[in-house]
Amino acid sequence: MTHPTPRSRPWTGALGALAASSLLRALSSQAADVSSRGDATRGAVIFALAGGCGCHTPKGGPVGAGGTAIETPFGKFYSTNITSDRRTGLGEWSDEEIDRALRSGRLRDGSAESPVMPYDQYAGMADSDASDLIAYLRTLPPVEREDRPHQVSLPLPRLAFAAWRWLFAERPTPPDVAPATGVERGRYLSDHVGICGDCHTPRNRFGVRDGARYLAGVAKGPRGELVPNLTSDPATGIGSWDEDEIAGLLKSGFKPDFDNVQGLMAEMVDGIGGGAGLGQAPESDLQAIAAYIKKVPPIANALHSRDSGAGTKGEK
Ligand code: HEC
Repeated sequence: MTHPTPRSRPWTGALGALAASSLLRALSSQAADVSSRGDATRGAVIFALAGGCGCHTPKGGPVGAGGTAIETPFGKFYSTNITSDRRTGLGEWSDEEIDRALRSGRLRDGSAESPVMPYDQYAGMADSDASDLIAYLRTLPPVEREDRPHQVSLPLPRLAFAAWRWLFAERPTPPDVAPATGVERGRYLSDHVGICGDCHTPRNRFGVRDGARYLAGVAKGPRGELVPNLTSDPATGIGSWDEDEIAGLLKSGFKPDFDNVQGLMAEMVDGIGGGAGLGQAPESDLQAIAAYIKKVPPIANALHSRDSGAGTKGEK
């Protein structure tokens, strides 16, 4: 008549111990995942210099939650959730997995990332900066938001991304440690952290940046915005600006004529949705970028004349 209480069954104790030990294992492996080799405080500076990884933040925030549409000739791509959410963000990714997505263009399952993610520019990011940035990303508050599938107008998109990566992705060798000062630091920050060329360099019909027109501006850049010529051409580029004027724009968004930048460049400077941008980066780094941009060889490319009929830079 007496029913054994569950407590009296010998196996429940064993099961409990097993459950506890697997929980412990799970917890410790999570702990291993979330602890990072990098330094999150230094990573915050890299994040600002990268314009707050703004493509990943929807207008108005939350930071890193993804879902922003990026229109390209190859379809509509949606940025992904890079917050620390375990299910929909990067919470369960190891440092190595995040690094591979950031600098090598491979997703967790080994497939190639879409080239809309500028991994071949981040590929030149120094090892220490990449691990600091990853440590910082782990501090982004988790936001549960499912990634949206890209609307790609190519047949076999996975194959196309793999082919693009194989054929076209640049493979700069990342330094262990970034150049510390001067024009070399400016070049490094411009090409591999702030990725100025991602918007300011025109692309060919395969979506590959045209090295022969480096930073020469794009009539219809991301979101259809006009992206001005940053080369030192005095008439059509910013050759007439001095270093302080360039650094000042990166800090405040104001041009020498007191007009302020709009759209994507304003997001680069201010960050969006509460994220940091170039404006929060150290002055010395903005000066280094300006010193480098001043040295970019001139390319004449008057973008405004055709659109506005005025032929004057700065008018739209
Ligand atoms: C996400 C795209 C994007 C990135 C990345 C980007 N820019 Fe821009 N930039 C723009 C757009 C768009 C404009 C035009 C803004 C406007 O019309 O007000 C612009 C304008 C500028 C201007 C003003 C030029 C002028 O003639 O008015 C400067 C200077 C500039 N960017 C420098 C940089 C530098 C340096 C970097 C890299 C550290 C950079 N930008 C990265 C999109 C970008």
